Amino acid sequence: MTGERREGLNLDTLTISVGYDPATASGAAKPPLYLTSTFVYPSAQFAKDTHANFFEGVPMPGGETPGLIYSRLSHPNLDMVEKRLAALDHGEVSAVFSSGMAAMTTVLMANLRPGDTVIYGRPLYGGVDWFLNSHFSQFGIQPFGYTDGADEDHMRAVANEAMAAGSLGVIHVETPANPTAVISDIALAVRIADHAEKTQGRRPLVVVDNTFLGPFLQSPLLQGADLCMTALTKYCGGHSDLLAGGVSGRAELIAPLKTLRTMLGNHSDPHTCWLLLRSFETLALRTERHCANAARLADWLKAHPKIASVTYFGFLPEGSKAREVYDRQCRGAGATFSFRVKGGEAEVFRFLDKLQLLKLAVSLGGAETLICHPASTTHYQIDRARREAVGIDDATLRLSVGLEHPDDLIADLAQALEAI
Ligand SMILES: Cc1ncc(COP(=O)(O)O)c(C=O)c1O
Repeated sequence: MTGERREGLNLDTLTISVGYDPATASGAAKPPLYLTSTFVYPSAQFAKDTHANFFEGVPMPGGETPGLIYSRLSHPNLDMVEKRLAALDHGEVSAVFSSGMAAMTTVLMANLRPGDTVIYGRPLYGGVDWFLNSHFSQFGIQPFGYTDGADEDHMRAVANEAMAAGSLGVIHVETPANPTAVISDIALAVRIADHAEKTQGRRPLVVVDNTFLGPFLQSPLLQGADLCMTALTKYCGGHSDLLAGGVSGRAELIAPLKTLRTMLGNHSDPHTCWLLLRSFETLALRTERHCANAARLADWLKAHPKIASVTYFGFLPEGSKAREVYDRQCRGAGATFSFRVKGGEAEVFRFLDKLQLLKLAVSLGGAETLICHPASTTHYQIDRARREAVGIDDATLRLSVGLEHPDDLIADLAQALEAI
């Protein structure tokens, strides 16, 4: 699998080796699952030193390794998965949370205060959109949406508008965006942060949601982002059987997230971390197969007479701005994309109800192919005008292509399209 090397090892190797040393667990080839809520201190002084280290960063006497305290602060399985994720994301460290939303809302709460503003790409995952527009705005934090994250003039204009209204604290970049898979330029977002720093003195954080592509296809930290957030629920977990979210970046940016996580209690539990660590081992292979299957299905859909359009990175026209960003920023097109059927909600519903192998469900990145109708599900709370302005209409479907044989998926799509 393609991917940058780190410390002399390829990412494929890191997914299998980093974070767990069998010597720490009686030689067990696979990590134990530490089902404990608390940890026993060997002495009162060690307990005090460990707390001073955790809360104030005071070095342990004699360079000793600090102990663990309580599982809400950290636990061995969390520690393992955080080390592995940091390696894959090219971050110094990572923090892992109970879901992608837990990760993203903690990033926003840790870094924004009343009077601040945030700019974000539209469309955006519905949960984050709701958090910014319906919840955060009640606390005097104003969101400003941009619609073309690859257009420098547009990005500057939105950033200037945000800075006129308050102090721009976060540039949020979800690329590809959910559900339409439009591209934003991470390096451009970093230039906008430079511009903001010159204008207002404060440098906003560039936070990239890397959920749709994951660590094998895009490395936001190498493009200059401050934080890389991934809903691990999706491709990294990979089996639609867990929820988790991770954030990677420099240690000084991750530490406040861990402090807030301790108080919110939204860390990832031992069992989920154990599953995640195992899932990482097959991420390279799964990513390859997901991408190959998606390319087959996208080609097939594009040629079908009942399909109006397909938005898939692989089809970005040569010579276009989006293509240039894609070639510079991504190592593959991913496997979640959108397409529109000819017709409206009635035609879409008839088609969806005829599918047998493809499963009608929200979410993405699992072994099974999932399809959903964003307008009536994931983006239900977003009003029609805002949805349609960014290309989510009644005919739009989002497809997360799984690991089944592509011929079987195509056969199912073909028979269901006959219902239109
Ligand atoms: C791009 C993106 N970011 C964040 C999330 C939130 O992740 P979670 O469902 O694990 O909270 C999702 C969920 O679908 C997503 O698609």
